[in-house]
Amino acid sequence: MNALTEFSHSLRFIATATRYPLKMGAIWPSSPELAKAMADQVDPQIEGPIIELGSGTGSITKALIERGIDESRLILIESHPHFFSDLCARYPKAYCFCEDAFALQNIAERNDFPKAAAIISGLPLRTQSKTQRQNLVRTGLRLLKPEAPFIQFSYGLDPPVDGRDLNVQPFPVKTIWKNIPPARIWVYRDLAHSG
Ligand SMILES: C[S@@+](CC[C@H](N)C(=O)[O-])C[C@H]1O[C@@H](n2cnc3c(N)ncnc32)[C@H](O)[C@@H]1O
Repeated sequence: MNALTEFSHSLRFIATATRYPLKMGAIWPSSPELAKAMADQVDPQIEGPIIELGSGTGSITKALIERGIDESRLILIESHPHFFSDLCARYPKAYCFCEDAFALQNIAERNDFPKAAAIISGLPLRTQSKTQRQNLVRTGLRLLKPEAPFIQFSYGLDPPVDGRDLNVQPFPVKTIWKNIPPARIWVYRDLAHSG
């Protein structure tokens, strides 16, 4: 992707974020540093699809591919039709869905998703109710292979989903200061499978 295309994606992001601030949950696309640090949490050797929620302009998608993950392993779920069609055009081998990621269980059942190697989310969780956030992580962990990570970034210091009620451990992996605004990466794993 050349600099002009990248610039036009950023402009679209800013325009959409100005119009739908709660839906976007950010004022700027994820920085390359944040995208790389998110993708670094995925082990490319674990077989199975990688599900990305709220792919937006595809900054994390690009970092996943740069990490060595084959495009055909990606399942991208994005509810905004413009971002969705850009993603389909840019990643023709990926499975793209223009759907509400909070209906993840339903999407997975309808499309017969195999157990995933990772779920990586750019969804704005803090604009959702506590129950909705918990349901998303609970569903995600059910769709993952044992010990596979549910990766989420968030702009607050505390975990975006409290793991105690879910028997999961939210782990703060890294804070990325070179992002607008600075973001912290959280990894959730099912405690039932951890040593
Ligand atoms: C923080 S932004 C995207 C971050 C992305 N990494 C980027 O740099 O463009 C959040 C994205 O989630 C999408 N989104 C918000 N709610 C959604 C939902 N319920 N289902 C699917 N996508 C959603 C928005 O359209 C937006 O593209």
